[in-house]
Amino acid sequence: MNNVLAIYPGSFDPVTNGHLDLIERGAKIFGRLVVSVLRNVDKEPLFTLDERLEMLRGVTRQWPNVEVDVFEGLLVDYARLRDAKVILRGIRAVSDYEYELQMAMMNRKLNPDLETVFMMPALSYSYLSSRLVREIARLGGPITGLVPPAVEERLRAKVF
Ligand code: PNS
Repeated sequence: MNNVLAIYPGSFDPVTNGHLDLIERGAKIFGRLVVSVLRNVDKEPLFTLDERLEMLRGVTRQWPNVEVDVFEGLLVDYARLRDAKVILRGIRAVSDYEYELQMAMMNRKLNPDLETVFMMPALSYSYLSSRLVREIARLGGPITGLVPPAVEERLRAKVF
């Protein structure tokens, strides 16, 4: 799939080791992988959009075929704009499946030519989410090994 451009969309508030695991897997399969952060005006994120982009760019620098970008509005419109053929999403456990299936089917309805591809992160990250990482950090718990070191530093600075 060397000529396939895939988009890995999400909030990435913040990027976790589970996201990175998926990015690494995606970068091996697709010619180009665009990790794209949703600019969501309705949500109050812990990290600003610029902070999230900066962290993502820092931790994905090692993969030359990975790009970090921003999108707003419908994902299918953004995918068309980028000429992407694939949406990459991670599935950690069965509990993710229902929501992900619903999104994939709706995106297919909106654009039948766009395929959603699911990949599973390493089992050791199957319980990991940005929401839990934010909560643990806020409550002073250990987050080492859950996020890249640079993100851990930023999280500590943010919550203390
Ligand atoms: O990491 P997240 O927060 O679960 O990512 C959700 C995301 C950004 C992939 C999803 O909310 C999305 O695609 N939003 C863009 C708006 C859109 O296209 N909505 C219709 C989806 S069927």
